[in-house]
Amino acid sequence: MLKPMFPIIPSTLTDQTLIQQTRQLASQWAFEYAASSSEPFYLQLTPDQLQLVTADQSAGPVYIDFASGAIDHRRKFGGGKGQTLAKAVGLHKTCSPVILDATAGMGKDAFVFASLGARVILMERAAVAAALLSDALERGQNNPEIADIIKRMRLFYDDATRLTEKTIKQWPDKPDVIYLDPMFPHRKKTAQVKKEMLIFQKILGSDLDSDQLLAAALNIAPKRVVVKRPIKAPYLNQQQPSYTLKMKKHRFDIYITS
Ligand SMILES: C[S@@+](CC[C@H](N)C(=O)[O-])C[C@H]1O[C@@H](n2cnc3c(N)ncnc32)[C@H](O)[C@@H]1O
Repeated sequence: MLKPMFPIIPSTLTDQTLIQQTRQLASQWAFEYAASSSEPFYLQLTPDQLQLVTADQSAGPVYIDFASGAIDHRRKFGGGKGQTLAKAVGLHKTCSPVILDATAGMGKDAFVFASLGARVILMERAAVAAALLSDALERGQNNPEIADIIKRMRLFYDDATRLTEKTIKQWPDKPDVIYLDPMFPHRKKTAQVKKEMLIFQKILGSDLDSDQLLAAALNIAPKRVVVKRPIKAPYLNQQQPSYTLKMKKHRFDIYITS
């Protein structure tokens, strides 16, 4: 059965430019343009941003803004190249690898890599997430405070399990490291699971093929594959990593491939 198209609406019906832009997004990402929506979740284009709305208002609209909130705070005070995430991908004083973030999601980890100087290729297969990311990257380009960081980030809307060495060889920037953070099937909201991730999980589902994703990544990553996992989760594909870096709630399993 074909999946129904995800609805997208403009935030007002009195602004013809906004309506036109909403229609353009609908056609670009294969969403369904509507004047209004009674679905539990829908995308809404406002004059400021593209956002994901929960109809029952149990959560505020979800949108990505690299220049404010927790993402901005982490850029300024997050511990720089000393933070565990940076160590996991091999980012240090003298090394800025090209990183393929093959499960880009909300782009938070990717933005950390880019803000520490790495060039980052973001891959996302879910149209809703990719469209929110694309919107945030566009806004970021026009913000002088983060424009230089955004220049190091490039988004691809694709399924990373399909990646081959041949595809990557054609890219101008060839990744050294592949970073994976697939959705883990969380059942309830806990302090660890952010509201926005639960909403994402409801819409996108769990990434049940992440074992295959690890296999594909190990085939093509020249230096290492890094997998972010909840601290107690089993290894992806039951495959023992070369080593692990642990944090309080999650860990990074590092597979050295070179
Ligand atoms: C937990 S989120 C990643 C969060 C991200 N690390 C961040 O910092 O915002 C997982 C995302 O990976 C995407 N994803 C999972 N498997 C994928 C694949 N094979 N190719 C591309 N995207 C994938 C999902 O659609 C989802 O948006």
